Amino acid sequence: MKDAQPRTIYLKDYRAPDYWIDRTDLKVDLHEGQSRVEATLSLRVNEAHWTPGQPLPPLELQGSELVLEGAWVDGVALGADEYQLTEQGLVIQAPSARFELRTRCRIEPQNNTSLEGLYKSNGMFCTQCEAEGFRKITYYLDRPDVMSVFSCRISADQIRYPVLLSNGNEIDRGVLEEGRHWVQWHDPFPKPAYLFALVAGDLQHVSDQFVTRSGRTVTLQLYTEPRNIGKCDHAIDSLKRAMRWDEEVYGREYDLDIFMIVAVDHFNMGAMENKGLNIFNSSCVLASADTATDASFQRIEAIVAHEYFHNWSGNRVTCRDWFQLSLKEGFTVFRDAEFSADMNSRAVKRIEDVSLLRTAQFAEDAGPMAHPVRPDSYMEISNFYTLTVYEKGAEVVRMIHRLLGAEAFRRGSDLYFERHDGQAVTVEDFVRAMEEASGIDLTQFRRWYEQAGTPRVTVSDSYDSASGRYSLHFSQSCPATPGQVSKLPFHIPIAVGLLDAEGHDLLPDSTRLVELTEAQQTVHFEAISERPVPSLLRGFSAPVKLSYDYSDAQLAFLMANDSDAFNRWDASQQLCVRVLQRMVPQYLEGTPLKVDGVLTEAFSALLRAPVSDPAALETMLVLPAEAYLAEISEPVEVEAIHAAREALANHLAERFAPEFEHLYRDSQLEGAYQPTAEHMALRSLKNAALGYLARGSDAGVELAHQQYRAANNMTDRFRALATLVHCERGSARALAKSCLQDFYDNFKNDPQVIELWLSVQASCQRDGALERVQALMAHEAFDAGNPNKLRSLIGVFCSQNSIGFHSGEGAGYRFLADQVIELDQRNPQIASRLVTPLTRLRKYPAARQQQMREQLQRIFTHSLSPDLYEVVSKSLQ
Ligand code: PHE
Ligand code: ZN
Repeated sequence: MKDAQPRTIYLKDYRAPDYWIDRTDLKVDLHEGQSRVEATLSLRVNEAHWTPGQPLPPLELQGSELVLEGAWVDGVALGADEYQLTEQGLVIQAPSARFELRTRCRIEPQNNTSLEGLYKSNGMFCTQCEAEGFRKITYYLDRPDVMSVFSCRISADQIRYPVLLSNGNEIDRGVLEEGRHWVQWHDPFPKPAYLFALVAGDLQHVSDQFVTRSGRTVTLQLYTEPRNIGKCDHAIDSLKRAMRWDEEVYGREYDLDIFMIVAVDHFNMGAMENKGLNIFNSSCVLASADTATDASFQRIEAIVAHEYFHNWSGNRVTCRDWFQLSLKEGFTVFRDAEFSADMNSRAVKRIEDVSLLRTAQFAEDAGPMAHPVRPDSYMEISNFYTLTVYEKGAEVVRMIHRLLGAEAFRRGSDLYFERHDGQAVTVEDFVRAMEEASGIDLTQFRRWYEQAGTPRVTVSDSYDSASGRYSLHFSQSCPATPGQVSKLPFHIPIAVGLLDAEGHDLLPDSTRLVELTEAQQTVHFEAISERPVPSLLRGFSAPVKLSYDYSDAQLAFLMANDSDAFNRWDASQQLCVRVLQRMVPQYLEGTPLKVDGVLTEAFSALLRAPVSDPAALETMLVLPAEAYLAEISEPVEVEAIHAAREALANHLAERFAPEFEHLYRDSQLEGAYQPTAEHMALRSLKNAALGYLARGSDAGVELAHQQYRAANNMTDRFRALATLVHCERGSARALAKSCLQDFYDNFKNDPQVIELWLSVQASCQRDGALERVQALMAHEAFDAGNPNKLRSLIGVFCSQNSIGFHSGEGAGYRFLADQVIELDQRNPQIASRLVTPLTRLRKYPAARQQQMREQLQRIFTHSLSPDLYEVVSKSLQ
């Protein structure tokens, strides 16, 4: 905690380090009270900053919460006047251009609640060093452009910590006195400190093998606490698929003889790509049919792949500085999305990703923390692990892929990996490799990395039947964001299809890629025999808000006919959005809510057609989320949006009860649970139908209850439970209550299932939500020291339960502020993420905005971490 205002760091101030660290030898001696870290660093002055004969620059090492016990230069102890301890760390004068520095520090991992650096989770020691956690382990040049060959000797009590792991290969081990033992690890690949990891615990593991395409055998191990050993298979299978895919699609092979994953219950993020020793949040790696839903099976597959892919896009080629974070994250998210698309339904994966982007990333772009994919300043880097850096960053890479085509893109990635292997580089290096390999000029395209905000594209058209010329008139603009008032035009790839009256593609290759580069631009299509319906931004070819003045009938037509599966879904969403937006003023005026006939007809066509793709159909049955409706409204009328969405869902439930009944019956699966794409699709369709059936009648409620009882897997069980808990019908109340109790009794010892149990209650919008959440905080199932529990209960309530969070004259805002103030003392990273819903204040009508502002101001009167300080101060500006 610092009282002074944290410093802002600028990209333009980047300067290479004064020293390199060629070797880093760590000795970590783990104890219950004081643990010791001895670090021996081989230092070498950066010749670019020094000429022989001149005085050497001082060596400034970062360190935080360390107690220095001694320091030695080339074996000689430093006297008290030969070093300085500052706010940032340790400063010494170098004796020569190359020297060895040894330091010994004391740390207390058991008291480290920030979950950054070395800490304890359920009795095991583990580390998290990205972005700047290594400085909590020892004094170091804690920056990604300092790459070093690490070795690590861990010693600990043999009974409590039989397993001692670090990066690379185990090279030696032995026993010590007093029941202790040690293991020595060595990682031959130079890496920045943020990729260092260490684990010590009483763990079991499952083991497997992978033979690389060049014929090397790699040992794969997944370590967990003994009680979870039955939940490892899916992650191991996913890992093997990811390893094969990266060989086939990117020509990238794994490089060490062993690849380890460790599951830990206390983790701030999803997972971490430490070299050869990935550390995962348990909820992102452990799964079994009885305890994990289909959604988590898919999430695990994606995250295991993501972390594995980092071995090349992140570890072998890393970031020069943290402004380049999207270099590894955007690229790796693009890689994992393509992997998931290849393993499952490509269209559904795209729909899910675009929904997230449109709901949450667009909201970030429109809020006080808006920043470019490559930010140019920050106070606290932990605040920049954002949807913009990750998801929008991936969209930017996807656009490059589309502009270059798959083959040139692959040549570009080969060039990038080859040219920069073992280096710490920039986004610019990536783009240049893509340009050189393809011959395509990406000068203007680079603005996607530099300018924040979501571009808007408006489209109109004209048709001349005499000449057969059809024209699309585009105009683009981008709203101001903090620090960026006016923007230059973006280079926007827009995939366009033209449909004839029968719904067939009119263009020869069905889709043409229009490259928008001007503020205003017209594109002509010749030899078009009739006035077409345009299908714009197919596959969501650019992360923009596109508008074209479709009639309702045209949207229904696209929904039924577009050859692009993503655009069929998008047309259905746009139609729903329109109908819902017409209901909002009706609600505000107090008149009855009316559902437009076009929508009913479109749904009727959808539900009567034979089911060819259950997964795609399911995505169309899910109405736009309240959070998405909020993102596209200004100001946000919380109650009206909720009421409109409920009314539409109830209308569909009543009108199409027989159709939903059929869908439900026809999607039943026989036999044992399988997490295959096909089975998941049928389950998701069945459960979407169940949701409507339970809205529609008491018989539907009873059906949900039966499904809950009879389920042989967590997906069906949990979806039935969620249906009962969220159902407004009186007959659901008692059943929801008894099933929640039953669910708890059966799964109370399984933290991942309890996260589901908390989140389903936190998202229930019935009256009294805040009181229910507060009661759950006092429940034995809750643990304020565990980020997953905080996210499932408080995070879900404040971000997904709009009625509950915004009701009670600011009571929800006060509640969140109280939680955040308290949490900031223990875990600043989570505090500054949890506060997000309050930072959206400008979206709301004046009275609510004022109440939200008051709570932000109240938070600001406290002594805050840099993390929370940055977010709250920017929100109040
Ligand atoms: N680098 C991790 C990933 O995206 C995320 C992470 C960041 C984890 C910071 C922990 C801390 O794969
Ligand atoms: Zn990542």
